[in-house]
Amino acid sequence: MNKGIAIYPGSFDPTTNGHLDLIERGAKIFEELVVAILRNSEKTPMFSVAERLEMLRTLTGHLKNVRIDTFDGLMVEYAVSMEAVCILRGIRAISDYEYELQMALMNRKLEPTLETVFMMPADKYSYVSSRLVREVAQAGGPVKGLVPEVVEQKLREKLDPADKFHDEMHEVPLVVTGGKEKKRKKKA
Ligand code: PNS
Repeated sequence: MNKGIAIYPGSFDPTTNGHLDLIERGAKIFEELVVAILRNSEKTPMFSVAERLEMLRTLTGHLKNVRIDTFDGLMVEYAVSMEAVCILRGIRAISDYEYELQMALMNRKLEPTLETVFMMPADKYSYVSSRLVREVAQAGGPVKGLVPEVVEQKLREKLDPADKFHDEMHEVPLVVTGGKEKKRKKKA
């Protein structure tokens, strides 16, 4: 175990199995790992920051040295404010390398005391990204095995709100009868 705090920053929109794999690996080598969700990204997110925070907290509840937080502005300034010694980022394939190198060098220029540490998620997740997960889910495709079950369920709820109703009420979806909506109790 390495002494000190590491920050694992990202959008986590949503958390994939690759992210989770990296968090578990990071938790083994750092004294404390802070998973930090960027609050004000230029991108329009699928999940709100609160939803992403909640999902990550649920998914990492078993890891005692992992904390979930959010940040705004420059990541290195946040890292310094947290007294972190390094930044953790994942590299899946060569295609990630150029962007990650650029970001790591810019972060070093901004804050020379912080090191960026790269780790590789399990190779079975090397093609998994939040963007592709969103794309597949939005097109109605299966995301099983790519994201944790909690996230899979949230994606279903987000893309088909009736699913949330279905799950929460343990009732079959609404039936519209003559302009009036009725809830049918599911038979045991
Ligand atoms: O999961 P992502 O979208 O690849 O994460 C990118 C993130 C959030 C790590 C990066 O955009 C970031 O750190 N943004 C905060 C603003 C900042 O510090 N920009 C300079 C980075 S060189």
